[in-house]
Amino acid sequence: MSQQPQAKYRKDYTSPEFTITNIDLTFDLFDEETKVTAVSTVVKQGASSTLILDGEHMDLISVHVDGNKWSQYEVTKTQLHIHELPDQFELTLVTNINPSANTALEGLYKSGGAFCTQCEAEGFRRITYFLDRPDVLAKYTTTVIADQRENPYLLSNGNRIDSGDLEGGRHWVKWSDPHPKPSYLFAVVAGQFDVLRDQYITKSGRKVDLEIFVDQGNLDRAPHAMTSLINAMKWDEGRFGLEYDLDIYMIVAVDFFNMGAMENKGLNVFNSKYVLANDQTATDTDYLGIEAVIGHEYFHNWTGNRITCRDWFQLSLKEGLTVFRDQEFSSDLGSRAVNRINNVRIIRGPQFAEDASPMSHPIRPDKVIEMNNFYTLTVYEKGSEVIRMIHTLLGEDSFQKGMKLYVERHDGTAATCDDFVAAMEDGSGVDLTQFRLWYSQSGTPLVKANTSYNADEKTFVLELEQVTEPTLDQPQKQALHIPMNVELYASNGAVIPLYIDGKSVDNVLDFKQSSQRFVFENVQEKPVPSLLREFSAPVKFEYDYSDSDLMFLMVKATNEFARWDAGQNLIAKYLRNNIEFYQSKQELVFPQSVLDAFKGILLSEKLEPAFIAEMLTLPSQNEVAGWFKPVDVDAISEVLGFMKKAIAAELVDELTAIYHSLNQDAYIVDHPSIGKRALRNVCLSYLATTDDGENLVKAQYQSANNMTDTMAAMNAANQAQLDCREVMMNSFSDKWSHDGLVMDKWFMLQGTNPAKDALTNIKQTMSHPAFSLKNPNRTRSLVGAFFNQNPVNFHAVDGSGYRFASEILVTLNESNPQVASRMIDPLLKYRQFDEVRQDLIRTELEKLSQLENLAKDLYEKITKALEA
Ligand code: TRP
Ligand code: ZN
Repeated sequence: MSQQPQAKYRKDYTSPEFTITNIDLTFDLFDEETKVTAVSTVVKQGASSTLILDGEHMDLISVHVDGNKWSQYEVTKTQLHIHELPDQFELTLVTNINPSANTALEGLYKSGGAFCTQCEAEGFRRITYFLDRPDVLAKYTTTVIADQRENPYLLSNGNRIDSGDLEGGRHWVKWSDPHPKPSYLFAVVAGQFDVLRDQYITKSGRKVDLEIFVDQGNLDRAPHAMTSLINAMKWDEGRFGLEYDLDIYMIVAVDFFNMGAMENKGLNVFNSKYVLANDQTATDTDYLGIEAVIGHEYFHNWTGNRITCRDWFQLSLKEGLTVFRDQEFSSDLGSRAVNRINNVRIIRGPQFAEDASPMSHPIRPDKVIEMNNFYTLTVYEKGSEVIRMIHTLLGEDSFQKGMKLYVERHDGTAATCDDFVAAMEDGSGVDLTQFRLWYSQSGTPLVKANTSYNADEKTFVLELEQVTEPTLDQPQKQALHIPMNVELYASNGAVIPLYIDGKSVDNVLDFKQSSQRFVFENVQEKPVPSLLREFSAPVKFEYDYSDSDLMFLMVKATNEFARWDAGQNLIAKYLRNNIEFYQSKQELVFPQSVLDAFKGILLSEKLEPAFIAEMLTLPSQNEVAGWFKPVDVDAISEVLGFMKKAIAAELVDELTAIYHSLNQDAYIVDHPSIGKRALRNVCLSYLATTDDGENLVKAQYQSANNMTDTMAAMNAANQAQLDCREVMMNSFSDKWSHDGLVMDKWFMLQGTNPAKDALTNIKQTMSHPAFSLKNPNRTRSLVGAFFNQNPVNFHAVDGSGYRFASEILVTLNESNPQVASRMIDPLLKYRQFDEVRQDLIRTELEKLSQLENLAKDLYEKITKALEA
């Protein structure tokens, strides 16, 4: 690396020296040489008469100021400096870019046959030189010119205002977006598509044309996305009072995309994974994912687009809030408990892991080298938990008052996280002074609880302690304002009302000091406490529940989340014990009483199947790994396998009976049917480890009339390494090899294959005709699954997994640094492992750090990991 990349700091924010109020763009689209003409109205705001614009990976053809050819400028690798400028002027820039050569998928690129753009966070600077920062809001007019036959659809933000034909088979369309926006929300798409159309009438009567653009032949896979969009528009009006603000809303599905989807104003661009679904190609999980992501991008129209971020350090302002909104959307439409459980799994698994890694950062980071590295679980998912805590502290009514004030104050502007919290405070009257620390402090707090009952005084004492361990970025930590949701139960299951100092108190305690005591009065018998209900704060929680308390809570707790959590706690106890036993070569145990508790859940007729399915799902290998240092990969895998087999062997009759009773003839995508399939397929995953497994799995694969059941059979065969695996894998790839999106499921099974020779297999699979390292979805499905969900093989002690990882990263660092940087994460956590593995991983990281052309993305992560 010739020049070391420089970090930017949040504290250094200054408002821009110039602003751009209007921009008129013309794209003359050609695969290898697209000419971009940008005519901007530039207004001086500060003292300088030199305008510094961002720009990279393009050729500057000409510069004009107020129509005059300008020569007072210099171009560097990343900037254009234009000198001796007047206070206000029209700047005309012509640049040339090469969409075909753009494998990074940032800026203007080709996805299959179509042109498309990705500008967040800093991709607009690959299109033209610009003030590419989110606090510069301009009105955009965009003319797109292209070959009529190859690109019948020419799209951009806002409303279509004009169009025409040109010589040589070319045509053009002109778009105008009335809403000022930052450059990261700009988009252009040109291509040949099939279009699904519908209409939505907003509550104040605006007619909105809805259009979903998909590859030709895929129209039958678009209806679910359309339904989800309409549901999202309705929901945002009902719950948040927010309405859509243009006459058209377009969604384009593309196959080459670095992330899930992008909220460009009026023209969302989506990874086709989050649009396309029918019963033959998509699983229930895919359907729910589409609903969530369609919702997420739609909700950004207010929380992100109308009110955007002042600078990229504020990313959680839009992302944390929008994730919170999409989680609420999914919870209001489906099962709140199941949604909560799955969101909490993400926090306790990968988010806690990220916060324990060298990349640990606050939800509002202080220091960034490459912004793309900060689209993280911390900013998104922990960010959403922070919003959820505000919701818990304020309640729905006051939260909505705060939201209303936030929109009134900041609509049409670029705001900060502090602005948001201030609006919440002013709208509700709740003091959030100490709460603000959640925005600036990184790491996961550990909360320990102790309780005691005083039978004479009828008091129950809850003592809480909180510590946040230092992280690489922050040695000092302070006590946070933690909302602690508690409930106490009498032995008959009755809820005991909470009194402190003679006054009735709410379930949510304000836990604000390093250690704090809460004395509950008038408690007539020794209660069973239910603590951190609903996972009311994103913390690690320790309390020494007895087995009998946990079994009591599994049945009697008033909310489903607490029941699930008690079950997980019970499993966790025996996981930990057995891992110790395994390491000291003792026999593994799983007490009958615990097995009976799970049998009770399985057989319960009061519980919904979707919820039972969650209760019976063991924590993931990665979540368990987060409890230990050093992590013993093999022990965890063995013990999880043992516990799965123990449950299956004990409950084989019940699992078999329920498996058969939940058979459904027709495939219907609604929540009750999804829940039944989920439970049935959990049963299958257990039964696959029993004598009858082979038969059941084979029969399900052969008779399945939908992708959910097909994949469940294949997954079960893969995990249990059944003989039928091979035949199923071959028949699946014969059937689907033409369809990359469906083949991703097959690649994922290869990537997660627990067989000993899996890596050899995976390397061969990379030459499958449907595979390409240029496509991020394919890469994540095969290689990403191996890195993240094949612990025993990835961490093989001969280092083969790590060497393979490093070879892949060398390639991706060149072609797509953003994807490379997401893939490297498991290697950053090397200090979690034993010394042999630490050395092996460090060797690979050091090799990578020496690369000639190491991109900023990997540079930032590798240097942090090595200095840790
Ligand atoms: N704003 C997008 C979202 O949350 C995220 C996103 C999509 C993105 N594509 C990207 C971020 C490319 C960085 C780079 O929905
Ligand atoms: Zn988002």
